[in-house]
Amino acid sequence: MSTHIAAQPGQIAPRVLLPGDPLRARWIAENFLEGAECYSEVRGMLGFTGTFRGERVSVQGTGMGQPSASIYVNELIKDYDAQQLVRVGSCGALSEQLRVRDVVIAQAAATDSSMNTLRFQGYHFPPTATFALLRNAVEVAERAQVRHMVGTVFSSDSFYHSRAELTANVVDYGVLAVEMEAAEIYTLAARHGRQALGVMTVSDHIVTGEETTAQEREQTFGDMVTVALEAMLA
Ligand code: ADE
Repeated sequence: MSTHIAAQPGQIAPRVLLPGDPLRARWIAENFLEGAECYSEVRGMLGFTGTFRGERVSVQGTGMGQPSASIYVNELIKDYDAQQLVRVGSCGALSEQLRVRDVVIAQAAATDSSMNTLRFQGYHFPPTATFALLRNAVEVAERAQVRHMVGTVFSSDSFYHSRAELTANVVDYGVLAVEMEAAEIYTLAARHGRQALGVMTVSDHIVTGEETTAQEREQTFGDMVTVALEAMLA
């Protein structure tokens, strides 16, 4: 096992979905994977491996925020040799063209986190998705007629933001939505030569104040999971 994941070597597939919420990891395993088995319950951060269309896929909760996601992604890469890391989860819409329940496919991730500030000192690294995964996800979403937008997200260290700060620093620069993990996942994938993507569902609209109910979230999160799984396998 690694420090925070109780799997034995080989128990985690090269393709890993990364929801922030461990209970959503279980929901994905139960509803999308065949023969899923739980390989880790350490700190309640559940991880499962099963098959999708005959291919092994794992789903590992990461917790909220870049420091937590970084722990799991570091260990998935270094201790379990994960190759494809695809975040699935929720985001808050900033673009007026987005509605709640739309899917955001994150081409790049801006951030206010100190993780890359410390890593790169005076340099500025642009955390970006792996093009092949991005292209696959867009093709799947178009084919399945899932309402989606492709563009930059903002990976914030805060859930509770000041509207003025968001507007001045990200909305005015065309950023589509805010979430909390993609920048670190993209940066770690780049550092270790792995593939990464973030596919997020809009759960709330920061500008219009629109929100989804729990039942709506479950239904529309299914579209996002299908896009993510099919993008990995394409
Ligand atoms: N995920 C969903 N809504 C969010 C928000 N408002 N800020 C950060 N992450 C989110």
